Amino acid sequence: MSKKRVLTGITTSGTPHLGNYVGAIRPAIEASQSGEFESFFFLADYHALIKAQDPDLVHRSTLEIAAAWLALGLDTDNVTFYRQSDIPEIPELTWLLTCMTAKGMMNRAHAYKASVQANIEAGEDEDMAITMGLFSYPILMAADILMFNAHKIPVGRDQIQHVEMARDVAQRFNHHYGEHFVLPAAVVDDKVAVLQGLDGRKMSKSYNNTIPLFQGEKQLRKSINKIKTNLLEPGEPKDPDDSTVFQLWSAFASSDQIASMRREFENGIAWGEAKKQLFELVNADLAGSRERYQQLMDDPGYIEDVLKKGAERAREHSVPLMEKVRAGVGIAALS
Ligand code: TRP
Repeated sequence: MSKKRVLTGITTSGTPHLGNYVGAIRPAIEASQSGEFESFFFLADYHALIKAQDPDLVHRSTLEIAAAWLALGLDTDNVTFYRQSDIPEIPELTWLLTCMTAKGMMNRAHAYKASVQANIEAGEDEDMAITMGLFSYPILMAADILMFNAHKIPVGRDQIQHVEMARDVAQRFNHHYGEHFVLPAAVVDDKVAVLQGLDGRKMSKSYNNTIPLFQGEKQLRKSINKIKTNLLEPGEPKDPDDSTVFQLWSAFASSDQIASMRREFENGIAWGEAKKQLFELVNADLAGSRERYQQLMDDPGYIEDVLKKGAERAREHSVPLMEKVRAGVGIAALS
């Protein structure tokens, strides 16, 4: 029996931040180290084009995110680590899946619906600035997943619906054309909710409220000091469950440390003090990999080689799968 496959992607449309680390990179690297799974991790640069149309930003982000995964200890001998756009079979499969995807299901995608809603609220045409890329985003993601017959997809909560859609598309495809695809399932780490950003909303490049993963120590301290808090004075009890500072603490601390910070909140710890402790905790966690990150950023040729090798390995799966699927839908040589 071969091992179960874990697969996840990270969109290359920004600088890696703590939310990416806690929500995607850290659990993915841990899963790959357990030796229990066969892991596929990739840079979703085609997905990036949906959100980011600045070529320099997409290009730089690809380097930064690759450097971040490697700096944080990704072992590329044991993991297939690649760039989505190096696998031409992915856009090819996207089309075959597109022809098996119900438009009604796409209409219900949260990300698309949120954009429509924002247009309506702004009194604009509901389709304003909505591209077919945004609309079809879940199908490209389904191709990423189904291409490698992945079972488990570690994602943030906001991505669960997309994995469910991939499963639905796989089911339809299998039903119509025969068993080609494994049905994937999302895996969400319950210990970490979607990390909150500086303003208390979900930490996201789109909200511009992120704490970058690898900034200098001083910058990190500054970012943490910017986290929004309420006006309660030192000595006044504070609600840990309503605090971004406590939520971030919980994402980095041991269970003992979480319990003791909870008590400190109840005892009225000053916001300044809580933030200072948070900085120290996060900084200690990241200091070693930060240095390695800088070295990698200075050596893009090395990263390019790593990605090219990863693509070769990934295509050992994608090329034969695509051949089989093409034949399955009736696209094959005539003799
Ligand atoms: N859409 C995911 C995100 O924004 C990134 C992604 C692209 C992905 N393809 C994927 C995640 C396939 C898991 C599996 O976070």
